[in-house]
Amino acid sequence: MTIAAPRPRGVIHHWAEILPLTPQTPRISLGEGDTPLVRSSHIEALCGLDELWFKLELCNPTGSFKDRGMVVAVAKALEDGAKAIMCASTGNTSASAAAYAAHTGIECFVLVPGGKVAAGKLAQAIAFGAQIIEVDGNFDDALNAARALTEKHPVALVNSVNPNRIAGQKTAAFEICEALGDAPDILAIPVGNAGNITAYWKGFGECSERGLASLHPRMCGFQAAGAAPIVLGKPVESPQTVATAIRIGNPASWKSAIAARDESNGLIEAVTDDEILEAYRLLASKEGIFVEPASAASVAGLIKLAREGRATGGRAAAILTGNGLKDPDTATTQYEPKVTKAAGTVEGVERALGW
Ligand code: F0G
Repeated sequence: MTIAAPRPRGVIHHWAEILPLTPQTPRISLGEGDTPLVRSSHIEALCGLDELWFKLELCNPTGSFKDRGMVVAVAKALEDGAKAIMCASTGNTSASAAAYAAHTGIECFVLVPGGKVAAGKLAQAIAFGAQIIEVDGNFDDALNAARALTEKHPVALVNSVNPNRIAGQKTAAFEICEALGDAPDILAIPVGNAGNITAYWKGFGECSERGLASLHPRMCGFQAAGAAPIVLGKPVESPQTVATAIRIGNPASWKSAIAARDESNGLIEAVTDDEILEAYRLLASKEGIFVEPASAASVAGLIKLAREGRATGGRAAAILTGNGLKDPDTATTQYEPKVTKAAGTVEGVERALGW
């Protein structure tokens, strides 16, 4: 056996051909992208699907899909001479922005809704040395402020309103088509600010133009019921949900999410916090996949469709956007710990287990 030389990893190296790069764009990487596509062992049957695949975007370097787009947004900002970046975030974008800023030696400012960011995400932004601004308001307020501030000051905005983020995130659609040999029939995805559903739809369109896919998936987006502006057709002033990542009342990419839904003959519907938490527990206990609550919305949506007799069979891919480790507080309230105390001896452990 010979061991090949390590090949360069990361979205920019792998997908240069489909990204808006120039020779001057720095080829930075934290090893993002190329995430596993794993077949469901249990939930597939529950959803009445022929095949259900999980795209493990939680395997990205900072534990969420944001890294795919952030690497491109930061590289382009560096190319333009930026010394600092800024984002508004429910947590994952800030963790990702802070990581790439640390990696490339620039400053990072993150605007987060005070008290509403999961502990692990805040820990990441702290560890990476970002300047954290806790806003007295929700994500939508923070994004409005970030947009205005980056117009006024020499700081690059790296939210998904930045087209370089969408360009990077579309690479996941290419990976799915490569792995399955075609696009899936259904793409299930959580919707918050609606950048990711926009990016996937763009990606699948480009896959079919390039002959990598013979079909378009039906884009099935799921919002949390307490934060479902697209479903309701109007902004939600005080969005509320256990899935804090998608606690968004006025998504920036609203129009392109609707276009993805309508052009693909898809749907954008709401799932309740109970439905999200049921899928969250099932993913861990029956599939061995620990996601954060927002990610479980995609699976909760597929289960809901099946329960309502709307399962269509076929092949589906569900995007699992973020890692469960990011939100330890929800984990400790939602899982029943099987813990027994024992003396530190063979006999002690046997006694405790009743063996
Ligand atoms: N899943 C997770 C884990 C997220 O963090 C987000 C968005 C989404 C889904 C929804 O994606 O916004 O593109 O529709 N998080 C953003 C953030 C808003 O600030 O981290 P979207």
